[in-house]
Amino acid sequence: MNPMLLVYPGQELLGASLQRELSAEPLLFEMRAFPDGETYLRIESDVRGRQVAILCTLRDPDTKILPLLFMADTLRDLGAARVGLVAPYLAYMRQDTRFRAGEALTSASFARVISAGYDWLVTVDPHLHRRQSLSEIYTIATDVVHAAPLLAQWIQANVPAPLIVGPDAESEQWVSAVARAATCPHVVLEKVRFSDRAVAVPRIPEVERWVGHTPVLVDDIISSARTMIESVGQCKVAGQPAPICVGVHAVFAEGAYEALSAAGAARIVTANSIPHHSNGIDLGPALAAHLRPFLGGTAG
Ligand code: R5P
Repeated sequence: MNPMLLVYPGQELLGASLQRELSAEPLLFEMRAFPDGETYLRIESDVRGRQVAILCTLRDPDTKILPLLFMADTLRDLGAARVGLVAPYLAYMRQDTRFRAGEALTSASFARVISAGYDWLVTVDPHLHRRQSLSEIYTIATDVVHAAPLLAQWIQANVPAPLIVGPDAESEQWVSAVARAATCPHVVLEKVRFSDRAVAVPRIPEVERWVGHTPVLVDDIISSARTMIESVGQCKVAGQPAPICVGVHAVFAEGAYEALSAAGAARIVTANSIPHHSNGIDLGPALAAHLRPFLGGTAG
């Protein structure tokens, strides 16, 4: 029997692509807010014995988490065989340590909440920095789609003589993977973060080596865009051409996209883990391949 896909409001484009790729049956539901702000939810499809995936990317996670828990709980209650979460952007991965006494380790708390509500989780490039894998905090089965090959394909097809630039040591893992796949050089800078919206990025080392290259700034998340903006500034200082900014997760806090454009990015391109007009790299087929084994199919 075909799997069922519940597409959370706002994710229709990627939802349609996954539905096609997986030959999934759309799972129909009604959701609205009561006048007092509480959530009303009704599952309209018959889900008894079915494999269900819920697609919901987790930008603005606090508004989505409770409805997502109600959905999974209701689906199980109505007899669904297994319910998994497809969260192309997985929130709360950056709060992975206690910088000051008493701070919430929200990455671990969030993982416990999702693990209690869902049977499995598939995501794209979660921000693993101080942790090696999701299994350190998630107790359910998880799988990760790596966007690096897709970023590399886009760069190869669209940028002549690219030089991949990663902003910080954390980015080395995906920046080097992108550069290897795109068969081009890369450098990694040493960003220093002072606060949520204040970062400093040093000069590009040995800049004379890269004359004739187009800098391509690559990062997993673009949130306040301060990291990218500072890196664009360093390209300018070094006399390089205006850089192309490539990100996996287009979080773009308010005004961030406009600020990055105004800072001098030649082009801003993201994968479609979060719907945004900068989306130019499609994750649909790769996500579908990672979902098939969870939905009773084979990868491929
Ligand atoms: C940092 O650890 C991440 O890899 C990104 O560099 C960071 O999240 C970007 O944030 P922002 O756009 O706010 O500078």
